[in-house]
Amino acid sequence: MPLHTAILIQREDGAPYSPDFGDVYHSSDGGLAQARAVFLAGNRLPQRWAGRRLFSLLETGFGIGINFLATWQAWRGDAARCQRLHYFSVEKHPLTAADLASCHARLPEVAPLAAELQARWPQALPGWHRLAFDGGRVVLTLLFADITEALPEIDAGFDAFYLDGFAPARNPQMWSAEVFRECARLAAPQATLATYTAARAVRDGLAAAHFRCERLPGFGHKRHRLVAEFRPPHWHRSAVAAAPVPPETPVLVIGAGMAGAAVAENLARRGHPVTVLDAGAGPATGASGLPAALFHPHLSPDDAVLSRLVRSGLLLALRRWPALGPLPGAGDGLAWPAADSGEESSMRETVERLGFPADYLCFLERDALRQRCGLPVAHGGCWFGGSGWLDPRALIRAQLAASGITPRYGARVERLKSGNGVWQAFTAGDDLLASAPLAVLANSHDAARLAPGLCDLRLIRGQMSIVGCAAPPLHSAIAGRTAVIALDCGLAVGSTFAEEDLQPAPRAEDRARNLAALRSLWPETPLQDRAGASADFVGFRAATRDHLPLIGALPDLAAVRAQGLHWRGKPVTKLPRQPGLFGAFAYGSRGLAWASLAAEIIGCHVDGEPLPLEHGLAAAVDPARFVARALGKGIVP
Ligand SMILES: Cc1cc2nc3c(=O)[nH]c(=O)nc-3n(C[C@H](O)[C@H](O)[C@H](O)COP(=O)(O)OP(=O)(O)OC[C@H]3O[C@@H](n4cnc5c(N)ncnc54)[C@H](O)[C@@H]3O)c2cc1C
Ligand SMILES: C[S@@+](CC[C@H](N)C(=O)[O-])C[C@H]1O[C@@H](n2cnc3c(N)ncnc32)[C@H](O)[C@@H]1O
Repeated sequence: MPLHTAILIQREDGAPYSPDFGDVYHSSDGGLAQARAVFLAGNRLPQRWAGRRLFSLLETGFGIGINFLATWQAWRGDAARCQRLHYFSVEKHPLTAADLASCHARLPEVAPLAAELQARWPQALPGWHRLAFDGGRVVLTLLFADITEALPEIDAGFDAFYLDGFAPARNPQMWSAEVFRECARLAAPQATLATYTAARAVRDGLAAAHFRCERLPGFGHKRHRLVAEFRPPHWHRSAVAAAPVPPETPVLVIGAGMAGAAVAENLARRGHPVTVLDAGAGPATGASGLPAALFHPHLSPDDAVLSRLVRSGLLLALRRWPALGPLPGAGDGLAWPAADSGEESSMRETVERLGFPADYLCFLERDALRQRCGLPVAHGGCWFGGSGWLDPRALIRAQLAASGITPRYGARVERLKSGNGVWQAFTAGDDLLASAPLAVLANSHDAARLAPGLCDLRLIRGQMSIVGCAAPPLHSAIAGRTAVIALDCGLAVGSTFAEEDLQPAPRAEDRARNLAALRSLWPETPLQDRAGASADFVGFRAATRDHLPLIGALPDLAAVRAQGLHWRGKPVTKLPRQPGLFGAFAYGSRGLAWASLAAEIIGCHVDGEPLPLEHGLAAAVDPARFVARALGKGIVP
């Protein structure tokens, strides 16, 4: 399960070499020249992307990123470039940041681009990493996984393929019939492919997958290389991304909490005019109004779906937030002390088993953890580097400011109606509030009322206490049985977790519970508890039964019902959808982890772009999953 970074040797002739594969990363006749001659020219680039709104490329083997840098450089220099370039690349053994930098030092021609790539180079964590360059017009998605696992998880159409594994004889996994079949599945109409090799097995394998190959003179000392066109038989169904809406299609976002503000910011950045409606008197009047919220990974020994999703969301958010300017909070580490010695040893085992980079996650024995977090914790536990807390109210304000949107407050949507390709939002008095061809429900548990029948949402009351404390020695935020965060106004402690409790006002007994939890972590807390419960924050989390949010296009229940059990057993992603209606809600206790990911998923759905996460993870948050599960049990929802 852990990723193994590449072992790389710089050969005397300047070509980086992999001792594990017994091959060089690029031709000794020049990496950039090879990229241009073999991969770009072999796919007739830049000509083929000219004037396109979107052009998508898939590479097998990211390596040093020379092909990417050459492609990005060509895109930058091309006056007729496509508006958005999506570059997907699969890599099982990412380079360490130091090796990447030392290889790039030999590429002065692309130095500024290489510097940007190095600055954003992800930690060696399994999964997908989406990096945006040039204001999001060049999007690099790095799939850190084995090729055989990575390709089946992609759900998109690609216009061009770069096949760049090590030599087929030394790296057969990268040239298998399965890989070629996957390329065919992922090929958009008129897709092309290029590779530096003309090995017989590769030619035959590609031909069997309906790529019509041509052998051309090779680059440098190579005799031949291959270019190919995808020529599928008539029955082949091309992998075409869902038809995007026209650019600048207006969008209505309902809700100005963490969910709505992130969606609005993403769509506005993509050029869509966005109207935000919120029932409250200002932004963040719901659960997102808490004074401080933690963000950190979720851990499970088998790196389960929830853990992978949270990681995906967190990494995306951590790349997005800095663009919003300084936000109140801290992201330089968070401690999760074990509650007892049993939990301590299972944490130790899990951390060891996952083998993640230590600057992302490590296990610290009690004294080391005490030193890091500043509290006299009773047990060792996890240290999450790069995790921490932030003030969600400030985040939401920054997102709205960045997108230039002033939400309409006091605008409660009582009813949504669609007709003639437009979604209309009405008040309780049946006055039209706003309308747009696209609508996003980001109004937490109330979304289930506006779009009934999708799922049951649980409401979970939470009370976070703000307590005075003389000079707390806290060096980092603490998570676990109770969260502790040092704010200017005191310590934020909590939170309680109570289902079916609709009391909106803070309660003294809940505050007492939070303080007791704090004392069990830190018996000698020098509390100055003058304010009492009135200082506390109360909010309501909306959660599903499977603890995952609903993110994506909302299913068309009328269409499903009309066809009885027709959709039973079909993949959830294939269920019919309501045109132009999306959801981003049920974030439970993880608003910060879901919000940026949800916004990018919805942005990609709207613009017909490849999603930022694996098919299996997208299906896990698909708003149609409860409908699909009901059908699976023979129940028409
Ligand atoms: C005590 C507590 C502690 C928490 N701690 C953390 C934490 O440490 N880390 C973390 O990541 N998450 C935490 N959470 C969870 C997090 O707060 C939520 O997941 C997140 O705020 C949900 O955001 P949202 O935008 O979906 O919902 P909300 O913030 O509730 O926003 C929904 C918005 O929709 C509006 N609205 C509702 N209905 C309508 C309508 N019909 N028309 C118009 N507008 C409407 C509301 O006015 C509201 O502004 C905590 C939650 C609580 C309660
Ligand atoms: C020739 S190098 C790629 C060079 C790269 N395209 C560039 O521009 O720098 C081949 C890459 O394939 C990767 N690779 C090898 N086997 C793999 C596998 N099974 N799955 C995914 N990547 C693999 C290697 O780690 C290596 O980085």
